[in-house]
Amino acid sequence: MFSRYKKQAPSARTAPAAAPAPATSSVETPQAAASLRRPVPRKNAEAAPADKDRKRKERLGEIKVQLHRELLDNLNLSALDKASEKELRGEIAQITGELLDEKGIALNREDRMTLNKELYDEVTGLGPLESLLQDETVSDILVNGPQQIFVEREGKLQLSDVTFKDEKHLMRIIDKIVSAVGRRVDESNPYVDARLADGSRFNAMVPPIAVDGSLVSIRKFKKDKLGIDDLVQFGAFTEEMAAYLQAAVSTRLNIIVSGGTGSGKTTTLNALSSFIDDSERILTIEDTAELQLQQTHVGRMESRPPNVEGKGEVSPRDCLKNALRMRPDRIIVGETRGEEVIDMLQAMNTGHDGSMTTIHANSARDGVSRLENMIAMAGIEMPIKAVRSQIASAVNVIVQASRLQDGSRRMTSITEITGMEGDVISMQEIFRFQRVGLTPENKIIGHFTATGVRSHYSERFRLWGFDLPPSIYEPTRME
Ligand SMILES: Nc1ncnc2c1ncn2[C@@H]1O[C@H](COP(=O)(O)OP(=O)(O)OP(=O)(O)O)[C@@H](O)[C@H]1O
Ligand SMILES: [Mg+2]
Repeated sequence: MFSRYKKQAPSARTAPAAAPAPATSSVETPQAAASLRRPVPRKNAEAAPADKDRKRKERLGEIKVQLHRELLDNLNLSALDKASEKELRGEIAQITGELLDEKGIALNREDRMTLNKELYDEVTGLGPLESLLQDETVSDILVNGPQQIFVEREGKLQLSDVTFKDEKHLMRIIDKIVSAVGRRVDESNPYVDARLADGSRFNAMVPPIAVDGSLVSIRKFKKDKLGIDDLVQFGAFTEEMAAYLQAAVSTRLNIIVSGGTGSGKTTTLNALSSFIDDSERILTIEDTAELQLQQTHVGRMESRPPNVEGKGEVSPRDCLKNALRMRPDRIIVGETRGEEVIDMLQAMNTGHDGSMTTIHANSARDGVSRLENMIAMAGIEMPIKAVRSQIASAVNVIVQASRLQDGSRRMTSITEITGMEGDVISMQEIFRFQRVGLTPENKIIGHFTATGVRSHYSERFRLWGFDLPPSIYEPTRME
């Protein structure tokens, strides 16, 4: 009988009991239990290159290391900045050619071109990372030690065929990146956050804290951030939800975007900001400047961690306190994760309505608990009821962003905070993503729907000229 949970083992009929390791043999296992369980795919490396290809790469890698040192000795480094890309590529090709001839190494045309490109990337850029940084389809680069580099394309992680020669090579590139921004990373300072020249967000952690070799994560900077229309088109939310969000932003509700790591919080925040009127003065505060606001009147701030001696820190809270003296109409904080929560809520409560931020949480309810925890951790001694009423009067809408298991990113819920009932913050969900199943290819099947609850703010929307039709609050009927 066919079961979708179990792979058909081709050898099952021919070798019923002969297999010495019956764990994977379909006949030996108790049938009822085994057919309920899906086979767990066990693969060591997804894109293991063919043996020949690997040998070729290794040989090229060795030649590259040999030549790199000599190339640096032969190049006039002080003239590097002034040379155009074409000149430099020509120069490198020429020196490489000479060195190869000297050593009696013969390479075919393709290998020679690869070598020239890789050497150029080593000299001017970030070595093996350079090709991934330039690849438009890659959104995240995740390095787990020198031999394993994963990339994210269209929401899916894949093992790339790019590698570093060894840990030393990887460390050299990390050093190059962090020293360019005046930071240091070594045993006593084992992790660092930085921004690359192109705006990409960079984080590295080196041994011994990183056990199997340095860990690097890069969130690539997208020149064209996804806008509201793109997100609607990608199915991240619906046109009705977009209309609701437009009303919420334009009528200056305070909004929190909640979500897990890489769920699309910053993207959502950026898209929401497009609804802000061009005449408003917006101040943004981020750890790494990622937001790209389209308005004319924007002041951007980037907080700064302490330096090697532990001095010079400018925390998000410092920026926020200062921002309040800079006459903002709205304040956008890239992520609230610490004591700045106090000032953020205060700002939302006192005249800077229409402010926005993101938090790490898995649901609106969870998001509120996170806010409560942050306030407690900041050392504010307030009765829980007072904390909650502070939150309830500051935050109006919580938008939940999620990265689902098939890699798609969706706005899985829009929830309003409507006030307090006793000691509890009352909330109502207005829209949500209703999952109904999974296709055989593991794609999620589902649809967005309104919950049938009319917005608590619909009168406000109407008074501000955003008279949303009652139909947008009606649940979607699916057959
Ligand atoms: N709806 C979407 N469809 C496709 N790609 C998306 C969508 N939303 C976000 N992305 C992409 O997903 C990646 C992560 O998005 P983003 O930086 O907004 O996440 P985040 O939640 O802010 O992450 P972090 O927790 O690391 O700050 C980006 O490359 C972004 O372009
Ligand atoms: Mg983010």
